[in-house]
Amino acid sequence: MSKSDSELEFEALLDYLKLNCSYDLSGYKEGTLMRRVQYRMQQLEIENYGNYLQYLQNHYDESVSLFNTILINYSGFFRDRYSWDYLANQIIPQIITRKQSDEKIRVWSAGCASGQEVYTLVMLLAEALGIEQCLQRVQIFATDVDEDAVSEARRASYSEIEVANIPSDLLSKYFEQIQQRYVFDSKLRRTIIFGVHDLAKNAPMSKMDLVVCRNVLIYFKPETQAKTLIRFHFGLTNNGFLFLGNSEGLTNNSHIFTPVSLKHRIFVKGQSLTLQDHLLLQPRTDTKKAVNPLTTQIHMWKAAFLASPLAQLAVDRSGRVLLANQQANTLFNLNISHIGAQVKDLEIARLINPSTLINLLDRDSVKPSAVRRSRAAGSDNRHSSLARKHVEWVTDNHTIYLDIYTTLISDESGKALGTNLTFIDVTRNILLEDEIERLNSALTKVTQELKETTEVLHTTRQQFDSTQKELESVHQEMQFRNYF
Ligand SMILES: C[S@@+](CC[C@H](N)C(=O)[O-])C[C@H]1O[C@@H](n2cnc3c(N)ncnc32)[C@H](O)[C@@H]1O
Repeated sequence: MSKSDSELEFEALLDYLKLNCSYDLSGYKEGTLMRRVQYRMQQLEIENYGNYLQYLQNHYDESVSLFNTILINYSGFFRDRYSWDYLANQIIPQIITRKQSDEKIRVWSAGCASGQEVYTLVMLLAEALGIEQCLQRVQIFATDVDEDAVSEARRASYSEIEVANIPSDLLSKYFEQIQQRYVFDSKLRRTIIFGVHDLAKNAPMSKMDLVVCRNVLIYFKPETQAKTLIRFHFGLTNNGFLFLGNSEGLTNNSHIFTPVSLKHRIFVKGQSLTLQDHLLLQPRTDTKKAVNPLTTQIHMWKAAFLASPLAQLAVDRSGRVLLANQQANTLFNLNISHIGAQVKDLEIARLINPSTLINLLDRDSVKPSAVRRSRAAGSDNRHSSLARKHVEWVTDNHTIYLDIYTTLISDESGKALGTNLTFIDVTRNILLEDEIERLNSALTKVTQELKETTEVLHTTRQQFDSTQKELESVHQEMQFRNYF
């Protein structure tokens, strides 16, 4: 069945996020992803994925807002209270008794969000071992793919509503009340190592006695869930435990974990991985999804633009700088903070009048000939013209001369979207032209001198000839006189 325009646009959006923002969302369930993206689009009053892709390209912070919307960082202390009770009463004691008294106990909270889960774990371990033993023996790894969530978890500061589920004796024992906030015990926080980690692609932590991964796998496609469970299997010690969320199961990996309590979603590491399990972790090459050509085109255009040896800027219809490559940044002293600024507010306005750019766009966008020209120019719908020649640009320590070319950027229908400005340093050409001019005038002068000298020579020769003739006739006359 062929895909609808909307599905193709959605794929282009995912490809764009993967190629330009390093967010690979291919492991997440498509339905959930679509709902989350639509939710974000509604907030911005954008109607379709195509327009949203354009919005993403023009707003550099938007990918972060989208990512936050997709990840859903909701968490809570003692979430699913009875399951935590089961862990505290049945599992943690087993982990402790299996270990020597000086052996480390290693726990991983994977997808820890803003930290409630990991502090719940520390409280239970401290209750079981005593605070001193906990400080000495427990090592907890708390990871999430969302950097902001990890920072929040590290801060360990919660509101009154957020701590409402913590039994009052534990709250007063493990939290310090600072004004309106409850901050987790700073000494015990030292047992935790926080980090950014993507379960769908990074290698697992190792030698874990317990992996807690709750309400994360639920967002993953079955294949990504299966791979993540295999990584957990790698990461656990023999007989290590896995604690999932209440609505999560083992999908097709049931052979590698044995249920301890299905009700509470607690499993113990089971038999070894099969060859198939290992193969599942190999990157797949045969069924690789073709990347949407539209995104490839955008990506290649952007890469070519950034890598160009010529300084280039892309300016949108309203005269704002959208992109600047490295050459332009160096030449015009620009940095990331100038992206989005109006050309008229930047020093480069000395080079090209911003209103000329906008007029150019307005003029070309309504001209059918411009559309024909840009179509004729190829699939990228662009044509260039020399806007200014030999413009002087004085930098801190030298003066250079630039030719400025403008290239209309238009969409399929020929509607102008913006302008690409290319700056060609012609200083060397100008110096060479000056040198040629100087040599030409020297040559003209020498030619003139030569001409004059030739004329003098000619006159001298004539004088010489006539003198010689005179001499000859005097000579003849003397001979004649001598004869008589
Ligand atoms: C609903 S919260 C669950 C938080 C906590 N585990 C709990 O149950 O209270 C889901 C968390 O999973 C994280 N997450 C989503 N995809 C992830 C991935 N690929 N790798 C690591 N964490 C991920 C999100 O950033 C979010 O913080």
